Amino acid sequence: MTAPKHFLDISDFDAPTLNAILHTARAMKDARKGWPKGLREKDEPLKGRMLALIFERPSTRTRVSFEVGMRQLGGETLVLTSSDMQLGRGETIADTARVLSRYVDAIMIRAARHSNLTELAAAATVPVINGLTNLTHPCQVMADVMTLEEHVAPLRDLTVSWVGDGNNVAASWIHAVGRLGGKLKVGAPKELMPAPEVLAWARAAGADISLTTSPEEAVHGAHCVITDAWVSMHDTDAASRHNLLKPYQVNERLMQQARPGAKFMHCLPAHRGEEVTDEVMDGPDSLIFDEAENRLHVQKSILLHCLGA
Ligand code: CP
Ligand code: NVA
Repeated sequence: MTAPKHFLDISDFDAPTLNAILHTARAMKDARKGWPKGLREKDEPLKGRMLALIFERPSTRTRVSFEVGMRQLGGETLVLTSSDMQLGRGETIADTARVLSRYVDAIMIRAARHSNLTELAAAATVPVINGLTNLTHPCQVMADVMTLEEHVAPLRDLTVSWVGDGNNVAASWIHAVGRLGGKLKVGAPKELMPAPEVLAWARAAGADISLTTSPEEAVHGAHCVITDAWVSMHDTDAASRHNLLKPYQVNERLMQQARPGAKFMHCLPAHRGEEVTDEVMDGPDSLIFDEAENRLHVQKSILLHCLGA
């Protein structure tokens, strides 16, 4: 039996594969211009295929974009909440993977722990897709790269600034720059820098990453400034994070230190007035809703990649 084509992390792929996924996503997006949102692709390449969506954490964008995307491709979805499954009563991830592999054609998981994703992928005989873990969020960053390339230029020609918590989305951004090129400037408090393992990966990959505790220095020369919530779903230390991250709010004053016309991105959900102001979120250079839309297009392309259709 050939190994299933998982989509676990951007770091698992080479640049030609990632660029091919982005290319197909753009082509499918362009082809749908002017179509009603719910319409299926004419050739329904995933007709008869079933995607299971496991949620160990809440979601709006990931759930809706995978459900809609799969249906546009002619396939179907099943949404499973871990607390409603035997997983919630202690059945192992590996046994769950083996059982689901007998019923469905692919599995997307939003996992409470990264090890739940990797255990699922190791035991599944169908493709597994990472819909966010505590460590990474590769589908989000594929959509972010697609968005930035649509609005500005190829990533390899850009300087991107990550301001705030060096979290799961930041880690996938590091993977993206390591594989696709470009420069990433991280501005974070020293306690919340990206994980040492991710930084070691970046060094080995020859990625152009710089770290600073100064938000102003991080945005200097940036074509795009990105931030995320101060408290992620798996975090338990909300009060200390608020204190540490207060100086890293993305506001007009900080945006003015980036390149003129610099774009702003945020994976959402945002906490307006905390990590970012309304002015920036709703300003002319904000790409937040294009990013959210592109989850749909890029994940359709990821599904086609994984399912070989
Ligand atoms: N950006 C993102 O993954 O959003 P959800 O948590 O709503 O899925
Ligand atoms: N860093 C955030 C992303 C949410 C989509 C979290 O993990 O909660």
